[in-house]
Amino acid sequence: MINQILNKTQFSKQDILTLLSVKGDERTMLFEKSASIKQEYLGNKVYLRGLIELSNICNKNCYYCGIRKDNKKVNRYNLNDTEVLNAAKFAYENKFGSIVIQSGEIQSETFTKRILYLLRKINEISQNKLGITLSLGEQNKEVYKKWFEAGAHRYLLRIETSDRNLYHKLHPNNDLHSYDKRLEALTHLKEIGYQTGTGVMIGLPYQTLDSLADDLLFMKHFDIDMCGMGPYIEHADTPLYANRDALLPVKERFEMTMKMVALLRIMMKDINIAATTALQAIDKVGREKIIKIGANILMPNITPGKYRDSYTLYQGKPCTDENADDCKNCIEARIKIAGAEVAYSEWGDSPHFKHKH
Ligand code: 5AD
Ligand code: SF4
Ligand code: FES
Repeated sequence: MINQILNKTQFSKQDILTLLSVKGDERTMLFEKSASIKQEYLGNKVYLRGLIELSNICNKNCYYCGIRKDNKKVNRYNLNDTEVLNAAKFAYENKFGSIVIQSGEIQSETFTKRILYLLRKINEISQNKLGITLSLGEQNKEVYKKWFEAGAHRYLLRIETSDRNLYHKLHPNNDLHSYDKRLEALTHLKEIGYQTGTGVMIGLPYQTLDSLADDLLFMKHFDIDMCGMGPYIEHADTPLYANRDALLPVKERFEMTMKMVALLRIMMKDINIAATTALQAIDKVGREKIIKIGANILMPNITPGKYRDSYTLYQGKPCTDENADDCKNCIEARIKIAGAEVAYSEWGDSPHFKHKH
């Protein structure tokens, strides 16, 4: 029965719902299938993206997020240019292949220019050899275009949930947090020519299995190149914390994330899928487990150590006491344990994107 579904070339929504509910032997079969597809299409390599958390200053107020604007308990920081460039240099010298620059959402002329400056400098330092992913939230199309022309070639913007109603329960009801605008931003990224990544949170309050199945279909139909999705983890200083009693136990959110990643790998065989940090907050070897069943991207944190405490999107975020060297060594050991191999000095672009173009 499950085998029949697993061997289909396309899953219907009902198939997805069935697969998200598997247990026992059937669950093992699902994970074996996704692992073998990963092996067949992507091989054994895991690509690294050094994560630079540029700033935790954010102009938005997403109800789930620890660094939302109205959380007055956060120590706000903004790395200076030297700190960013040193982190990029670290990534380059340690053969990471790529970096991700992530930040709270700021839309301003100054911010746009600053990123342009950093992109040029990073390309200079690395002689254009470092792949650069941006994750700087919603911006207008002109801004995305400028950054693209300055050498950023991938962009991550999670849709958070493809369920419009749920989206509105997770965000204030105003223009700054509009589902349509987010969708439009994703479309712009694709039009400009970025390798476009999105993702969702799993185990949110009010989220149904039906909604998760739609998330997978959304990613398929939008034809994304990359995905980062992980469990929702409640944060005490956020409005959504009031709903904590309605949540699945964290272990179940973790389990659901495993299934979502396995299914996405089967549905989109050649995209890049990240083993996200939130997985590790729940299970010490969470990222390794997800690499085994489908993920092929890891993002070691290379933010200067003293700031890491302040980029707490959710509670229990790992690596806040570590520095870039610690994470590098730790990641290497972990990838080996997962039976995979680190790809050094390779961009590791999304094969899906290459096949399309
Ligand atoms: N739990 C898990 N992920 C979260 N994010 C923000 N808050 C949380 C949370 N409480 C994720 C969002 C965002 C990314 C940067 O972090 O999906 O896109
Ligand atoms: Fe800001 Fe992103 Fe957090 Fe929303 S999820 S409050 S946009 S950092
Ligand atoms: Fe940061 Fe393991 S990845 S300490």
